[in-house]
Amino acid sequence: MRNPGSLSKWGMWRGVYGLIFVLGVVALMISIATLIRFYSLSLFLGTDNGNDSELGKTIEDVIRKINVELKELRKLSVDKLEDESRRERVRYITFLAEILTSMESMNVFHPQMDRLNWEGRGTGTEGVHPLSKTTQESDKVAEFFLVEEIRKYVKIKPNRLGRQNFMGANGTFTSIGHACFLMKKELEEFMDYDVGDFCRDDWKLAQLLMVHGCDPLPRRRCFSRAPKLYSKPFPINESLWKLPDNRNVRWSHYRCKNFACLASNRTGKGFFKCADCFNLTHHEVPRWKEIVGLDANSNSTADFLIAEVLEIKAGEIRIGLDFSVGTGTFAARMRELNVTIVSATINLGAPFNEMIALRGLVPLYLTINQRLPFFDNTLDIIHTTRFLDGWIDFQLLDFVLYDWDRVLRPGGLLWIDSFFCLHKDLEDYLDAFRMLRYRKHKWVIVPKLDKHGQEVFFLCCTREATKAILILYGV
Ligand SMILES: *[C@@H]1O[C@H](CO)[C@@H](O)[C@H](O)[C@H]1NC(C)=O
Ligand SMILES: *[C@@H]1O[C@H](CO)[C@@H](O)[C@H](O)[C@H]1NC(C)=O
Ligand SMILES: *[C@@H]1O[C@H](CO)[C@@H](O)[C@H](O)[C@H]1NC(C)=O
Ligand SMILES: *[C@@H]1O[C@H](CO)[C@@H](O)[C@H](O)[C@H]1NC(C)=O
Ligand SMILES: *[C@@H]1O[C@H](CO)[C@@H](O)[C@H](O)[C@H]1NC(C)=O
Ligand SMILES: *[C@@H]1O[C@H](CO)[C@@H](O)[C@H](O)[C@H]1NC(C)=O
Ligand SMILES: *[C@@H]1O[C@H](CO)[C@@H](O)[C@H](O)[C@H]1NC(C)=O
Repeated sequence: MRNPGSLSKWGMWRGVYGLIFVLGVVALMISIATLIRFYSLSLFLGTDNGNDSELGKTIEDVIRKINVELKELRKLSVDKLEDESRRERVRYITFLAEILTSMESMNVFHPQMDRLNWEGRGTGTEGVHPLSKTTQESDKVAEFFLVEEIRKYVKIKPNRLGRQNFMGANGTFTSIGHACFLMKKELEEFMDYDVGDFCRDDWKLAQLLMVHGCDPLPRRRCFSRAPKLYSKPFPINESLWKLPDNRNVRWSHYRCKNFACLASNRTGKGFFKCADCFNLTHHEVPRWKEIVGLDANSNSTADFLIAEVLEIKAGEIRIGLDFSVGTGTFAARMRELNVTIVSATINLGAPFNEMIALRGLVPLYLTINQRLPFFDNTLDIIHTTRFLDGWIDFQLLDFVLYDWDRVLRPGGLLWIDSFFCLHKDLEDYLDAFRMLRYRKHKWVIVPKLDKHGQEVFFLCCTREATKAILILYGV
């Protein structure tokens, strides 16, 4: 079976799959057995006098076998395979790599296993760094990738001098999201550079990787490209409401090549969700300061004003997050009221992050895939608009809302601003918000004609339900 030349392609593949399956089952059984052992021994007997060194050996054995298998799989000549087999190959490599990672993490992180590994080696291991073995295993994971930089990146880096680092760990576990394995080609392209040289102008590739789950991205050892002639930004008393200097942005990957183009009301700017957001003078100035979206027919609006909202918790709202597509106007207005807001957005076809930074506000370059980088119960307010909308999967929305709930402090405000959805989905979305059991401070649901006729997810229908919700955390 190991000799590709003597067998037909399909015969070999069947063999490979069979072995993979058997290995998978073995790995699963060992995981279960190990868990049972750990728990039964340490929890119920109090001590661990079972023969664990045998277990440790078996696990190492399985890890070795999976590694051999992975190596064989990677050696298969990819060019000759059909598309489907190629996809299957990637799928199985990923699958094996996952099993391998979990087997190894079991070996690494379970203190009992850790101890075993050292005792199992007999005497003479005292001087060896506790991570040296782990490092070897992680090197094998690194072999999944071909480009040297990414291999170097994913290897565990033991601390020098054998001490714990400031985070209390014995090494640094630089990580990349597992979806990176599915985007091997793109990630390798991303990491294919000359150390110490300039990086390519490839933020778009980086964003593509992030949006597709390869998040966080690895660090790189090259210099990022900067605008050729960077002029110093405007002072803060001017920068908030002025279009920045065009020279302070690299325009190569945007359809518009200057801020005037982004601010003008012409079409085809390469993004649609926030077509007027760069028009500070007309579109942005009144937002959250005066009612702009008054519906002539129903004489109703889904807009709340910042002043109204802050009044609810007068003097309590100091820091927060704005998770929206936009140029930071919400943060600018809040800044004027002495509230510090960081604006999370990615660059959807326009330099949103650069714009926010040039206005003198803090941009947070973050996709929705990621857990928020804040500790539990810390923020006073979370505001979101044009972002969570009728496109979002209910389960995803659940995960997002729970995460927001996590970082919001007791008594904090969650401001879901102008949430659009189809009328038939309304109840389901309402349920998702009700699940939080927040007190409603302000809450309107207004039927509305969609005013952005171009927005893709509204094309099918003319009448929409819009709701704006402002909710209090806790009871
Ligand atoms: C554990 O297994 C090893 C061989 O794998 C054997 O040499 C040792 O005697 C066993 N110890 C116990 C306590 O059973
Ligand atoms: C880190 O190293 C210390 C001593 O060097 C050791 O006691 C500890 O178990 C190690 N921790 C891990 C997670 O390996
Ligand atoms: C901004 O502040 C600087 C000094 O802090 C001042 O010279 C300048 O005139 C101010 N600009 C505006 C538009 O107020
Ligand atoms: C902003 O929009 C208004 C009205 O649509 C327009 O008159 C103005 O020129 C725009 N601003 C810029 C900088 O293009
Ligand atoms: C956009 O510009 C056109 C003229 O080019 C003008 O007729 C239209 O009213 C403008 N739209 C907005 C929203 O300002
Ligand atoms: C709209 O409602 C406000 C109060 O909410 C009222 O004062 C105003 O007269 C109404 N306008 C029209 C045209 O009905
Ligand atoms: C913000 O803080 C400054 C300095 O502490 C103060 O002068 C100003 O009145 C405050 N603004 C508001 C709206 O509270």
